Amino acid sequence: MRNIAVALVVTFLTTFASASTVDVYAWPLSAHKPQSLAKLSYNSTHATVSNYSPLTIPVGDEIVRVGFYHGGNTWAGVATAASNFGAGKERKVLLHVDARGEVYHIGFKAVDVIGSGKGVKGGEGLGVEVVQMQTGPTPHLNKPVVLTADGKVDEKVEEKTFFQKYWWVIGLFLVFQLVVGTSGKE
Ligand SMILES: *[C@@H]1O[C@H](CO)[C@@H](O)[C@H](O)[C@H]1NC(C)=O
Repeated sequence: MRNIAVALVVTFLTTFASASTVDVYAWPLSAHKPQSLAKLSYNSTHATVSNYSPLTIPVGDEIVRVGFYHGGNTWAGVATAASNFGAGKERKVLLHVDARGEVYHIGFKAVDVIGSGKGVKGGEGLGVEVVQMQTGPTPHLNKPVVLTADGKVDEKVEEKTFFQKYWWVIGLFLVFQLVVGTSGKE
């Protein structure tokens, strides 16, 4: 029984120490639903793109939303020019991670690669960068506002996140109670 308890704890710890993944979506303004843009693997300092699908933008669309589902069902992200997904651009998704190393916001930036002299080919690929939350006396002021798909401020995100992040502490506590209770009777 004690061995099972140790194995459970080790499993918990490895799960939380290892890298996480996040699905990033691109959502042209006139499109009915978001398209998968990339799957990103990240830890608190580094991220890699493991699955990138070039975007199809409806003709005439000039704005594309880029974001992810915060806590599984709340859209959070930014809007950018559709031209940033064309050729001649170098794109980068910014993963804003909090003190626990979890993504809480996504940013996007694109730079021109035309005119650098060597005819660099843009329009393909995607970069990613982890941006850590600024720590300081007023950390909340540095935190970007999380927007919903309609561009409204979502105030419920923080409350939801608390329980989603800490359910496992309660789980761990219950497992220990169970183990202690059982081994006492052995
Ligand atoms: C994050 O991943 C990078 C690259 O895989 C690795 O070098 C780094 O040590 C990792 N950092 C942490 C905190 O795990």
